[in-house]
Amino acid sequence: MAISKFSNNAIETKLIHGGIYGDELTGAVNVPIYQTSTYEQEIPGVHKGFEYSRTGNPTRKALEALIADLENGKAGFAFASGLAAITAVLSLFKQGDKLIISDNVYGGTYRVLNKVFSNFGIGFTAVDTTDISKIEEAITDDVKAVYIETPTNPLLGITDLQAVSDLAHKHGLLHIVDNTFYTPYIQRPIEQGADIVLHSATKYLGGHSDLIAGLAVVNSDELAEKIAFIQNASGGVLDPFDSFLLIRGIKTLGVRLDRHVANAKKIADALKESKDVKKVYYPGFKDHPGHDINAKQAKNGGAMISFELTEGHDINKFFRSLEIFSLAESLGGVESLVCHPASMTHAAIPKEVRDAVGITDGLIRVSVGIEDGDELVKDILQAIESSN
Ligand SMILES: Cc1ncc(COP(=O)(O)O)c(C=O)c1O
Repeated sequence: MAISKFSNNAIETKLIHGGIYGDELTGAVNVPIYQTSTYEQEIPGVHKGFEYSRTGNPTRKALEALIADLENGKAGFAFASGLAAITAVLSLFKQGDKLIISDNVYGGTYRVLNKVFSNFGIGFTAVDTTDISKIEEAITDDVKAVYIETPTNPLLGITDLQAVSDLAHKHGLLHIVDNTFYTPYIQRPIEQGADIVLHSATKYLGGHSDLIAGLAVVNSDELAEKIAFIQNASGGVLDPFDSFLLIRGIKTLGVRLDRHVANAKKIADALKESKDVKKVYYPGFKDHPGHDINAKQAKNGGAMISFELTEGHDINKFFRSLEIFSLAESLGGVESLVCHPASMTHAAIPKEVRDAVGITDGLIRVSVGIEDGDELVKDILQAIESSN
């Protein structure tokens, strides 16, 4: 892994110059798309550092160095999707191992554990990780890792990163964090003791809803070696073109997120003031139960909001009445999206489990884009009015 000469710079500078910047061969300021599957060898085993693009590709390598730099980790790995990155990390475990996970993780994470890894004897216990004592109570001899999202998807619960790292390490467990909702611009879990950070780079890192990608960052050479082996052995790698697109997207992450967050604050405040809204989940609010912990470990409350309308509203009428927001899966793109977690992103979680944690049929999740903030507020309020 190349260490960037910008490793000690501010994140705003690292977003542009971090990892491997430009192309030494030609002086191009952008890393070229090395669209090749294989590389010529002089004699067997003697080559310029690349043999086969599943194992390594220069464009992917530049992206991997960049995300490692941004998260302040030892090494980064790029995969064909967020779930491919998650699958690679879960492949660290073996039959009889168990993970403790946040009780409202992304539905696909729950599904791969519940329906795929369970077939190989890898188990999990879902607990409210915002309460550290619940994690501690769930630790048994077979538990090998604590896997959290903070904020959680979609209820935006906040978990204390340093407290989980301390607890996990006291018991010899790995601390894994899905940092998709915040990105390293807002929060860097490895700086708070986490061992592995995961991303659906499809979201804010890519930022333009035009690619599917996943990233993993590890904090040690030992984990780097294991994940590199799994990445090559199982093969779910990101291709050179999407690696290029992701590097391109990451350059504007800071300016995009500043606008996403400013717009989110406006929308969250407007929803809170509306008499038609029963509950708003937004970690930027002073009265959010995780506000102080979030303020300690993150730059701000991000740009994801969830809310519930008061009784008597027709949720489908609300979705149909929106003009700027699109009803769609995913989040973190420049365009504003709304989704219905119970039937969309979290449909893979059984209804009784969803209801128990608060992912109700009336819950609406908003990914606030970078359009004009006042127009977004106007749009959401008129759609609420029309759904009455
Ligand atoms: C928090 C989180 N993690 C992981 C994923 C999975 O990523 P992908 O869709 O890129 O496979 C998602 C997707 O929505 C997500 O929201």
